Amino acid sequence: MILVTGATGNVGRNLVRELLDAGEKVRALTRDPATCNLPDGVETVAGDLTRPETLATALQGVDRAFLFPVHGALDAFLAGAKEAGTQHIVLLSSDSVTFPEPGWIGEQHLACEQAVADSGMSWTFVRPTVFMANDLGWAHQLRNDGTVRGAYGGGAMAPVDERDIAAVAAHALLAPDPGKTYELTGPQALSQIDRVRIIGETLGLPARFEEVPREAVRQRLLNHMPPPAVDFLLDQLAASRATPTPVLPTIEQVTGRPAHTYAEWVTHHAADFNGGQQTGPRVHSA
Ligand SMILES: NC(=O)c1ccc[n+]([C@@H]2O[C@H](COP(=O)([O-])OP(=O)(O)OC[C@H]3O[C@@H](n4cnc5c(N)ncnc54)[C@H](OP(=O)(O)O)[C@@H]3O)[C@@H](O)[C@H]2O)c1
Repeated sequence: MILVTGATGNVGRNLVRELLDAGEKVRALTRDPATCNLPDGVETVAGDLTRPETLATALQGVDRAFLFPVHGALDAFLAGAKEAGTQHIVLLSSDSVTFPEPGWIGEQHLACEQAVADSGMSWTFVRPTVFMANDLGWAHQLRNDGTVRGAYGGGAMAPVDERDIAAVAAHALLAPDPGKTYELTGPQALSQIDRVRIIGETLGLPARFEEVPREAVRQRLLNHMPPPAVDFLLDQLAASRATPTPVLPTIEQVTGRPAHTYAEWVTHHAADFNGGQQTGPRVHSA
């Protein structure tokens, strides 16, 4: 039995699908089974990683687990998993752990990695760069007036499709290679300006990027993230103007197929950008 925590998240939902398609017995952990909307064939159990007393049922008979990095809350889960006979943990981490200055986000993930490494079970760390899924946060801005407002629009990162992260995590669960770390990027370094343009071209929507001061973006992000995380992300964006994120071949090496491009990701999420309405891609005349 494979337990997937974070099963309702961007990565976890795709991972559940990959594992079911591979014929595995899958159990999904969620804090709210009533609304989780997971596919038929997955066993759904209620549990909260910050409340160890809720985890015993989820861990029964689990030999491998995908672990979502709820910061500071993994020790009890790991102790329970070891006691239940779990042998291998695949941790969702972050490429920020590899940075010379990992910043607040990297430090949190390093602590999660250390907890897993200390658990006595074997492990694989999956370290993605920024998710393409973060750009779903632009959908409401584009629907409002076709304009995404942000800072450091020319800085180029190599965002990764959540389906590819899930595919690598599935590989790490199906063919465990203890002690392996996978650093993942998408197939292209793209600035925010590039990505907004690709959304517009792919979906046939008006879409432009407008540069706004860092402080305005910072105030907006503080509604969603703690200050050190916001500052770290903005610093990363600023730095990517001079040094674009390098593109890594890991996804193709592991899965045997190319990583999804940004345009493919946009097509997959057309309904999210269109507010639930499917529209066709723009047809360019010669
Ligand atoms: N976004 C990026 O650019 C980026 C880059 C590198 C690494 N990462 C890592 O990836 C994570 C985001 O992954 P994602 O986008 O797949 O997730 P997501 O869509 O943000 O979903 C969060 C998931 O975590 C689960 N969860 C949250 N708190 C929980 C708790 N206390 N107990 C049990 N489950 C809990 C939620 O489950 P329920 O609500 O169903 O309980 C949900 O499945 C980040 O937190 C970060 O660690 C992100």
